[in-house]
Amino acid sequence: MIKVIKAETYICNMAKVTISHIKADIGSLPGHTTVFEPVVDEVRKYIREHSSSILSDFYISHIGDDIQITMIHDGGIDNEEVHRIAWDAFKAGTAVAKSYGLYGAGQDLLKDAFSGNIKGMGPGVAEMEITPRKSEPFLVYMMDKTEPGSFNYPIFKMFADPYNTPGLVIDPNMHEGFTFEIWDIVAGKKIELSTPESIYDILAMIGSKSKYVIKRVYTRDTHEKLPDENVAVITTDKLSFIAGEYVGKDDPAAIVRIQSGLPASGEAMEAFSYPFLVSGWMRGSFNGPLMPVGMKDSKMTRFDGPPRVVCLGFVLKDGRLSGPVDMFDDPAFDGARRKAGEIADYVRRMGPFEPHRLPDEEMEYTTLPKILDKLKDRFKEVDSVKKKKNLLSTKDTD
Ligand code: 13P
Ligand code: 13P
Ligand code: MG
Ligand code: MG
Repeated sequence: MIKVIKAETYICNMAKVTISHIKADIGSLPGHTTVFEPVVDEVRKYIREHSSSILSDFYISHIGDDIQITMIHDGGIDNEEVHRIAWDAFKAGTAVAKSYGLYGAGQDLLKDAFSGNIKGMGPGVAEMEITPRKSEPFLVYMMDKTEPGSFNYPIFKMFADPYNTPGLVIDPNMHEGFTFEIWDIVAGKKIELSTPESIYDILAMIGSKSKYVIKRVYTRDTHEKLPDENVAVITTDKLSFIAGEYVGKDDPAAIVRIQSGLPASGEAMEAFSYPFLVSGWMRGSFNGPLMPVGMKDSKMTRFDGPPRVVCLGFVLKDGRLSGPVDMFDDPAFDGARRKAGEIADYVRRMGPFEPHRLPDEEMEYTTLPKILDKLKDRFKEVDSVKKKKNLLSTKDTD
């Protein structure tokens, strides 16, 4: 009996595959515009030369100034060897970035020594252990000049909005809804809520995108094809919480599995057809439209943006990747790009004013507090306000 259980567990473990996506900004040019090919080549070369016993496949890509490593292996999430190889590859790339004097060389490598897990060291991490299906199609979304909460809107649309995803109405497996794991990244807490019954509770949180971020989406245990499986994961790493100051905007990435009882490829893409506003852009301090672009347009030149998203489509089989397909390289997204350009023109006219510039509480980790600090001793009491305050305090004690 025990033997049988063991054998089953073994088969089950063998069948699991992990997709780990780890990304970092390790230097760019001329400012925060784009990665430099020799640095990307070095990261690729390092992984190729050191991964044969760890990874069954990998793919190196980039958006703006961020290098992105997608890795396939059977070591599970939080795997030390996998995290180490990404860290060491970024270190090797940083050495090349430094040799060319690239801007912000090693920007996201906030700690000196690797100590077993890359989380909390600067790079963004999104990984999930999956039971691969006969055909395992998935998408990797990468954003630059924005933050993890920017995925709240499109992930919600893909997995919970029937106007975006007709599969939620039509496909019996999707009709049951999905479970969302949401993190309060300020308090360091998480909660699981399922759709459709908790849609309003979910929206009550994820609209506050700098505080609540969707970390994972799971199928429900009633899903016939793929019960209780992780089907989406997003990086939630906040650099400012690690560094204690603004060092870059936590440009996020996400992995989304698609088809067969999950959002179809086109439903997952449709969530980006409207250039919604995100935080980030210039100096990580401005709201602007998220522009979906093909790889050829993934460089940030206008006001260091506008914030962008690219998407690569893969199919996974026996640990090997086929693809990628450059998913936003499609004239059908020209309308969204044009609209993003119009919104950029509109908000840019506001210069340093809110709501183009982020509100005070989100400027906490930028260089703005230093300016305000310099002025603080020059403030004087406003007499009428002082009198009113005194009156109020006497009233309190009455
Ligand atoms: P599947 O249910 O086979 O994934 O097909 C849905 C689809 O792709 C329709 O566009
Ligand atoms: P990154 O977060 O992409 O490095 O950009 C930083 C910045 O300040 C852009 O203006
Ligand atoms: Mg940068
Ligand atoms: Mg970046």
